[in-house]
Amino acid sequence: MATITLCVAFILVASIHDSDCDLRFASYYGDHMVLQKSPERAVLWGYGPEGALVTLYLSGPIKQKTSPVTVKKGMWRVTLDPVEAGGPYNVTAAVHNSTATLTDVLFGDIWLCGGQSNMWFQTSQIFNASEELNLAAKFPHVRTFMASLKMSETELTDLIEVELPWSVPPANLTEFSAVCWLFGRYLYKTLQYPIGLVESCWGGTPVEVWSSTRALQQCGLEQTNTGPKDNSVLWNAMIHPLLNMTIKGAIWYQGEANAIYHQEKYSCSFPAMIDDWRMAFHQGSGGQTAHDFPFGFVQLSTNEKGSTSDAFPNIRWHQTADYGFAPNARMQKTFMAVALDLPDAASPLGTIHPRDKQDVAYRLTLGARAVAYNEKDVSFLGPFPDTILVTQIYVNLTYDQKVSVTPSKDTFEICCSETRNPCGPKSRWVPAPIMQQGPTSVQLSNLCALSEVAALRYAWRDWPCEFKACPIYSSSRILPAPPFIINRYPAKGNQELQEDNVMKNVPFLFL
Ligand SMILES: *[C@@H]1O[C@H](CO)[C@@H](O)[C@H](O)[C@H]1NC(C)=O
Ligand SMILES: *[C@@H]1O[C@H](CO)[C@@H](O)[C@H](O)[C@H]1NC(C)=O
Ligand SMILES: *[C@@H]1O[C@H](CO)[C@@H](O)[C@H](O)[C@H]1NC(C)=O
Ligand SMILES: *[C@@H]1O[C@H](CO)[C@@H](O)[C@H](O)[C@H]1NC(C)=O
Ligand SMILES: *[C@@H]1O[C@H](CO)[C@@H](O)[C@H](O)[C@H]1NC(C)=O
Ligand SMILES: *[C@@H]1O[C@H](CO)[C@@H](O)[C@H](O)[C@H]1NC(C)=O
Repeated sequence: MATITLCVAFILVASIHDSDCDLRFASYYGDHMVLQKSPERAVLWGYGPEGALVTLYLSGPIKQKTSPVTVKKGMWRVTLDPVEAGGPYNVTAAVHNSTATLTDVLFGDIWLCGGQSNMWFQTSQIFNASEELNLAAKFPHVRTFMASLKMSETELTDLIEVELPWSVPPANLTEFSAVCWLFGRYLYKTLQYPIGLVESCWGGTPVEVWSSTRALQQCGLEQTNTGPKDNSVLWNAMIHPLLNMTIKGAIWYQGEANAIYHQEKYSCSFPAMIDDWRMAFHQGSGGQTAHDFPFGFVQLSTNEKGSTSDAFPNIRWHQTADYGFAPNARMQKTFMAVALDLPDAASPLGTIHPRDKQDVAYRLTLGARAVAYNEKDVSFLGPFPDTILVTQIYVNLTYDQKVSVTPSKDTFEICCSETRNPCGPKSRWVPAPIMQQGPTSVQLSNLCALSEVAALRYAWRDWPCEFKACPIYSSSRILPAPPFIINRYPAKGNQELQEDNVMKNVPFLFL
């Protein structure tokens, strides 16, 4: 009787499977999958008859047999010994009278791909989609998996449904995330071992739905319940079930929805979500997934040409916890792909969905190589100012690297002020044309006349430049300078504003 009750209870959380207690793997373990390679150990789990002893056998380039584990509450769980990159393997779970087998399994690195519609954006929708799809068969060791779009009011143990099972490209690639796929295939080119891509994302969603109650509490966001935007519902159904799988890292393309929803909280809520995912994946995998696993993200691209709204500039800034670049002191082991120079006015999916995902993914890959794989000599950060020098007639910016400069009349702006207060969106901002350039510097003209330069900002617009035509790039022209806002005066008596708006590490100097 007890066993039957457990099986029924368990069907409620894993409704995709037959309503029985047969031996099987959890929903996201399947044929053609990639399991995390050494030095980490892959975790596998599944279901079986209560009390049965489950033994796992690995057969392929090497063999492994695990010590038997007991099925408790309908579930078993095994941690393999470390396996080097490669394959193919068969993974067989066995009880006394039945077995379940996963075939054509590879060991490599698993990357989780999350966010909203620009991560969901399908490979068939990008520029040069047919070329990309034709190329895919050359990458049989980059495997894809996609979770179905499902919500839950409680934290689930397994996915409710699988949208696309583990597939060998080009199978099922047309509907798979373009950014996720391209990231995986570019990484494969440098790593030369299998990559497993797990897509779990949903268009139009704010960060709050992907965050646990724990993470939301860090930012005072726990109370709101607003229908489909219910906090934590996608964390519960689409992330929590994955915690037991060992992963290498995650990439994320999200923030558009927060441009108009809890925007001012994003510099707290986004880093808090990253911290919480890291803690939870580490714990869920029994310590196999790193407690500080690398986390890459795409800084928002563009939405509306000619818009004067500062919603996108603010979110871009908050995506970096108001530092302007990543990694930074608040967001360690992160990397960011700047995308504000990749607008697409003709996108049939709306201008908020630019079709050039190749450059986005390539820039992410550079960050992953440097931050996740510790490759020396891989540049992944666009130019950021070191010092700002102000005189009556000019403002000189010195960058942290050599720059490639295209003249611009108004992409830099200065705030002219007679009061020693921080500048906000309503302050008097005037264009600061680029007058001259040096190898690592630009000279802007100071048009504040008799008032003082109180702040400087760069590309502080929804749509600041045309395609790959922003004023400042790395000397190779591959990496655009990220946008910034730097205030001279901290807000008086307002610690929070002070944190938000003052770049402690970019001094203003005055001649
Ligand atoms: C895996 O199982 C399949 C089907 O049973 C078999 O053809 C294949 O040889 C096995 N591969 C390995 C590596 O054991
Ligand atoms: C395996 O054995 C269990 C009892 O231990 C029984 O309930 C189940 O039906 C058997 N399954 C098969 C496939 O024979
Ligand atoms: C593609 O996904 C579908 C489910 O949507 C699945 O039935 C099919 O087997 C997959 N194709 C391949 C070749 O894996
Ligand atoms: C998976 O991880 C969750 C969260 O750590 C844990 O509660 C659950 O028991 C794990 N599932 C299995 C089958 O080990
Ligand atoms: C599409 O292909 C053309 C021709 O090869 C190339 O010039 C262009 O850069 C590609 N676009 C993207 C976004 O990769
Ligand atoms: C300001 O920048 C210009 C052009 O980059 C450079 O020639 C000049 O020396 C700089 N001035 C100072 C005081 O650094």
